[in-house]
Amino acid sequence: MDDQNLDSVFTRVRDVVRSDADLDGPSWVDYNRRFDTHFPELYRLFELLYGDRDDWLDQLTRLVLLTARSWVSRTPEQKLIDEEQEREPTWFLSEEMLGGVCYVDRYAGNLDGVRKRIPYFKELGLTYLHLMPLFLAPEPHSDGGYAVSSYREVNPDLGTMAELRELAAELRSEGISLVVDFIFNHTSNEHIWARKAAQGDPHYSNYYWIFPDRTMPDAFEAHAREIFPDDHPGSFVQLEDGRWVWATFHSYQWDLNYSNPEVFRAMAEEMLFLANQGIGILRMDAVAFIWKELGTSCENLPQAHLLLQAFNAVCRLAAPSLLFKSEAIVHPDQVAEYIAPGECQLSYNPLQMALIWNSMATRDVSLLSQALERRHNLPEGTSWVNYVRSHDDIGWTFADEDAAELGINGFEHRRFLNSFYVNRFAGSFAHGVPFQDNPKTGDCRISGTTASLLGMEQEPAAAVERIMLAHSIILSTGGVPLIYLGDEVAQENDYAYAGEAGHEADSRWVHRPRYPAESYARRADSTTPQGTLYSGLKVLLSVRTATPEFAGTHLIDFFTGNRHVLGYQRPGDTTVVLVLANFADDSQTISAETLSGFNPTGVNLVTGKRVGLEVGIQLAPRSFLWLRVALTS
Ligand code: GLC
Ligand code: GLC
Repeated sequence: MDDQNLDSVFTRVRDVVRSDADLDGPSWVDYNRRFDTHFPELYRLFELLYGDRDDWLDQLTRLVLLTARSWVSRTPEQKLIDEEQEREPTWFLSEEMLGGVCYVDRYAGNLDGVRKRIPYFKELGLTYLHLMPLFLAPEPHSDGGYAVSSYREVNPDLGTMAELRELAAELRSEGISLVVDFIFNHTSNEHIWARKAAQGDPHYSNYYWIFPDRTMPDAFEAHAREIFPDDHPGSFVQLEDGRWVWATFHSYQWDLNYSNPEVFRAMAEEMLFLANQGIGILRMDAVAFIWKELGTSCENLPQAHLLLQAFNAVCRLAAPSLLFKSEAIVHPDQVAEYIAPGECQLSYNPLQMALIWNSMATRDVSLLSQALERRHNLPEGTSWVNYVRSHDDIGWTFADEDAAELGINGFEHRRFLNSFYVNRFAGSFAHGVPFQDNPKTGDCRISGTTASLLGMEQEPAAAVERIMLAHSIILSTGGVPLIYLGDEVAQENDYAYAGEAGHEADSRWVHRPRYPAESYARRADSTTPQGTLYSGLKVLLSVRTATPEFAGTHLIDFFTGNRHVLGYQRPGDTTVVLVLANFADDSQTISAETLSGFNPTGVNLVTGKRVGLEVGIQLAPRSFLWLRVALTS
């Protein structure tokens, strides 16, 4: 389209919006400013995605109208946050950021219970709270809420949408951003769209990937990976009327068809509805899978990025402070592709997660060190969310090419890690459970709480040191550290899932225990492992917030010359914090020569004591050091 035509399209869209959205003077001025700045990008993306369809401009106009209506209905408080965050768009890079994640029912009973735990969240220092999926979902099988039947209804066992809104506002006033999932790759089979599709309604059948026979499913499955082979083979499940529907995950989670622009618009509407409940950050679930194309793996396709960018552009028009966190648990090259200010500003860091576990098992830091050196630094204005473990399984998502450079065979090594973590390897301290063991491919992932995987049942004192060590990494590499609540008091595996309706076939429930009340009660008693861990972590958390070098994600590698000891530097203005972490079960030394690039005296940030570097540094088993040093001039 030439410039003149483009101008007339812009004018047309603007006119429709102005008259139909019924904006008054100041609101229109405001919205119009946003429109000028952000509409061209949305237009560009929408044309790339849908430009070959006759109705694309009409769909785009309806979408823009939606953004205007949604924008005006934001509360004055929400608009204030929008303004604040537009002034300071990288607020989440602060060293004061700390995330926590929990299930509403398991951790606190219901939303009111979550509210009552705010004093504890403050005690811990949270600034970010991710409540696991809390929307209406099928019972008892809902994949932990990841099968959504309505984005506008809270699961009645947990509370109401009004309570969620109040909670968001209350958390906000305590300096905590509320994070919820945007589960937009699929809906549950009980969502109204899915029900209509199942009844044969052609309009809603086009919301999903539904085919009359096996021809297309077979063609797609020839290239697609099986995600939950325990549930069903391949990517499709059969409907009662004989048709086949795409279900990447469980048979009751039906993939939405984003090649239909109406699906995009409909989901943008659900997203903005959530934004206007006061949600600060959306965890963009299963981003890798959102676009399908015959003859490809249907993962991480270029259009998946365009879709996310288009959702992001919608936010810039209608909910400017809303941020996205990408959940891409895929090859590290592909994880990185989702991270950009115009796409997902935040991303889980599954590589660091997996390699912390790798170093724990092998006592060797080579892979982790290599990953920090080449895969950690991110574009300006974006950040990692670093975590030790999540509600999901641990998958070994390191790059085989990276491993090969270190002489490690990825396939064999994953087998070792799996056997180590399910305690089939002699000398293992771990009490994990296999997840989605796939004999066809040899693939398997690991379930277990941090404490149980790190040896709590068998050697609590060493386990506490390992838990501290793991957290010392996520607190210091750069990014928002995210704690799975309960791990800070060493919660152990919960095998009761085997008898819980809807959970019995999914070992991930072993690491989603209920609120560990006894462990929390022991947190003030330093004679218990829980107390030792909690007080130790609290010290680290307060050191972190007082250490400006820990802001942002910038990291400089540091080779310790010792394969058991991880090293990296976090640069400040005139100093650096040198981090050393010993994964071995015996003490290790870093030579004076290795440290000769620094001034000979540093400060241990945790103890406040001076440390002389001239004689080298000794690290106790499973210990770490956060050392502020000056560079020699
Ligand atoms: C994400 C969730 C996981 C869920 C899947 C399907 O990966 O983290 O728990 O099973 O999406 O929604
Ligand atoms: C994610 C991942 C998959 C993971 C699953 C949840 O989206 O791609 O590997 O195991 O969903 O467990």
